[in-house]
Amino acid sequence: MMKFLVQLPHFLFFTGKGGVGKTSLACATAVQLADSGKRVLLVSTDPASNVGQVFGMTIGNKITPFDSVPRLSGLEIDPQAAAQLYRDKIVGPVRGVLPESVVKGIEEQLSGACTTEIAAFYEFTALLTDEVIQRDFDHVIFDTAPTGHTLLLLDATGAYHRETARQMGPSGISFTTPMMQLQDSKKTKILIVTLAENTPVLEAAGLQSDLRRADIEPWAWIINNSLAIANPTSPLMRQRASNELAQIDAVTKQHAKRWAVVPLQAQEPIGVERLKKLARHFAS
Ligand SMILES: Nc1ncnc2c1ncn2[C@@H]1O[C@H](COP(=O)(O)OP(=O)(O)OP(=O)(O)O)[C@@H](O)[C@H]1O
Ligand SMILES: [Mg+2]
Repeated sequence: MMKFLVQLPHFLFFTGKGGVGKTSLACATAVQLADSGKRVLLVSTDPASNVGQVFGMTIGNKITPFDSVPRLSGLEIDPQAAAQLYRDKIVGPVRGVLPESVVKGIEEQLSGACTTEIAAFYEFTALLTDEVIQRDFDHVIFDTAPTGHTLLLLDATGAYHRETARQMGPSGISFTTPMMQLQDSKKTKILIVTLAENTPVLEAAGLQSDLRRADIEPWAWIINNSLAIANPTSPLMRQRASNELAQIDAVTKQHAKRWAVVPLQAQEPIGVERLKKLARHFAS
């Protein structure tokens, strides 16, 4: 087991299947880093973000400083709000210039699910290349949606990279795509969150293979909600704890280059104090 929050690069991603603790660990990390003096932006790419609930505040689709934690700000990428901004950007300049019926037609064409995904993707990737954000924050922590949605976002990022490379390649001009930021371990670390159970470990291994296929090497795994490390006394809990050992073994011996095991807490890690307590299990 090791401590994680040392020599971190600019971007940090928490990924994994649904309900394994991505949001809790991302929030705990954000609080810990801000507490240690870093300027941190905590971004949720989950359309169903609950980061606001964890801190008991409203965040939404703009960078919002947290009252409860100095140096920490949050942003929830809201695909609907992003799509509206995207529509306004395109329709704004032609409103009053083109006939109303044409403007309506454009608006209708931009009202589909596809536009919403594109707009959210646009916001996500802009964060990876935005120089103001790089300057204003020491770390940007991404709390992602469950695996499937995140892989879609990565797919789109890969396609965007290939198209940029195709267009820019012959020009000799150097360029940085969001994908290149994700692939560069000096800029980005990816943390895979899982549970010490068979299916979650298999799914996390599948996610790792998908990331590797995109030339992204996950940096470490976090096994969350562990009873084995919580040293329970009741016979039932001890039995469950011993069931975890084979899975922890698989993660540490077969899958992960680095790992941490985080114990199941008696209470949900909600609010700054409990998040700080959670961070102590994997932070330095
Ligand atoms: N170590 C822990 N001990 C106890 N409860 C935990 C722990 N980690 C997370 N939880 C709780 O488990 C639930 C799921 O955690 P969380 O929301 O962080 O998962 P998630 O991976 O972000 O889920 P989703 O995929 O739905 O976004 C929450 O109620 C959270 O408070
Ligand atoms: Mg979550």
